[in-house]
Amino acid sequence: MLLKFDFNNMMSDFIGNQGITVKELDAMKEQAKAANEFFQSNRGDGMMGWADLPYNQDAVVADILDYAKSVKDKIEYFVVLGIGGSALGPAAVFTALCHFRHNDLPKDKQKIKFLVEDNVDPERMLALLDVIEPEKTLFNVITKSGATSETMSQYLIISDLLKKKIGAKWNEHIVATTSSAKGNLIKLAKENNFKTFYIPDGVGGRFSELCPVGLLPAAIMGIDIKAMLEGAAAMDKACKDADIYKNPALMAAVLQFIAMGKGKNISVMMPYADSLKYIADWYCQLWGESLGKAKDNNGKLINAGQTPVKSLGVTDQHSQVQLYTEGPYDKVITLIGVEKYRGDVVIPQGAEAFPDVNFLCGHTMGELINTERVATEYALTRSKHMNNTILLDEVNANTIGQLLMLFQIETAYEGYLLNIDAFNQPGVEEGKNATYALFNRKGYEAKREELQNAPKKNAKYII
Ligand code: PA5
Repeated sequence: MLLKFDFNNMMSDFIGNQGITVKELDAMKEQAKAANEFFQSNRGDGMMGWADLPYNQDAVVADILDYAKSVKDKIEYFVVLGIGGSALGPAAVFTALCHFRHNDLPKDKQKIKFLVEDNVDPERMLALLDVIEPEKTLFNVITKSGATSETMSQYLIISDLLKKKIGAKWNEHIVATTSSAKGNLIKLAKENNFKTFYIPDGVGGRFSELCPVGLLPAAIMGIDIKAMLEGAAAMDKACKDADIYKNPALMAAVLQFIAMGKGKNISVMMPYADSLKYIADWYCQLWGESLGKAKDNNGKLINAGQTPVKSLGVTDQHSQVQLYTEGPYDKVITLIGVEKYRGDVVIPQGAEAFPDVNFLCGHTMGELINTERVATEYALTRSKHMNNTILLDEVNANTIGQLLMLFQIETAYEGYLLNIDAFNQPGVEEGKNATYALFNRKGYEAKREELQNAPKKNAKYII
């Protein structure tokens, strides 16, 4: 079943002058139509190759499934080495679709532990090496550019370790996911004969979960990747219409666009399911890195963007929701609800003597979490804070595919409405280049000089 997008509480009918009027939505009709025309006519081209991933990967999926089958009985650990778009998606889908305590399950209930290493904190690397057994581990090095310092330094540490521990067949413990044409990882993969999967040219990091970046780790963990792609295709088909009332991604993009115009500079993503916690993380990169741009497509300085914040229901009701209900009118809060949890727990009797606890008894935790979501929605609406709800009937491979595609298409529309390039990341590149320069990488001498000439820190501001 397709997810539902409920935007009642974005509207002035429910939150008065903090909300959006039907007239304001109607005034966006032409711009929305143009955004849809842009997306539909450019999909598959340039950096919008991701839009066709639900349809054009039969051979890739077959290769992934064959490979997953061939390795699954040989390994006990699968470790993703990557960062940004090359790590957030695999982590999000694993958390959504595998057992919540997967790695802690006894061996007869899980055969392969799953780890994502997306940092260069030395303590974390040492901790990884403490828990894995290299001879039983498959490392998936994921980097489209094949040049990212974090991932390449991890690769060097791990390949060195494998050579020492395993010897000649060390290469069988690495699978590379990278660009077929550019970068160093593809050269290393060829040189060392690594099994390799390719990231298509038109698929940028944060739009890559539905290509081998995400499909391979998911398949290794036994997730139904065909169902994920089917869900993505179903959502894509539901987002074809130029009429905002018949296209959830377009409506969501238009609402956020109007909201930004009203000073709502923060987008809170708040799933009411621990399994979706890292989907919120993945969303934060997608929304933040795609829309946070200094200049528009005409080169005009606009400093666009809406700050994404991840939040978890109900946990953050006891930490953030006070701010969301009584703080500034600077946010849009998106709740993600789940109608039916994959398992439920009855809250037993035993508090007859305590009426203020007893009211819980006999209900399920599923009922409680959903009731608290509805109650938070009510509180936000009552205090006139913009909120909307995405409702999944259940968390499964199909609905996760839908959710990923919904957010990706919404982001593409939003980029068009803001007149920015949603598919580049010059701010990230700047940081990468500065690191190269500080590490004396050849070709970055000018950047090093620029850094050396930057204002020196003033000791009086360090106390
Ligand atoms: O969305 C993006 O393009 C970035 O976040 C990249 O995924 C990230 O910088 C890692 O890049 P790469 O896959 O080239 O190592």
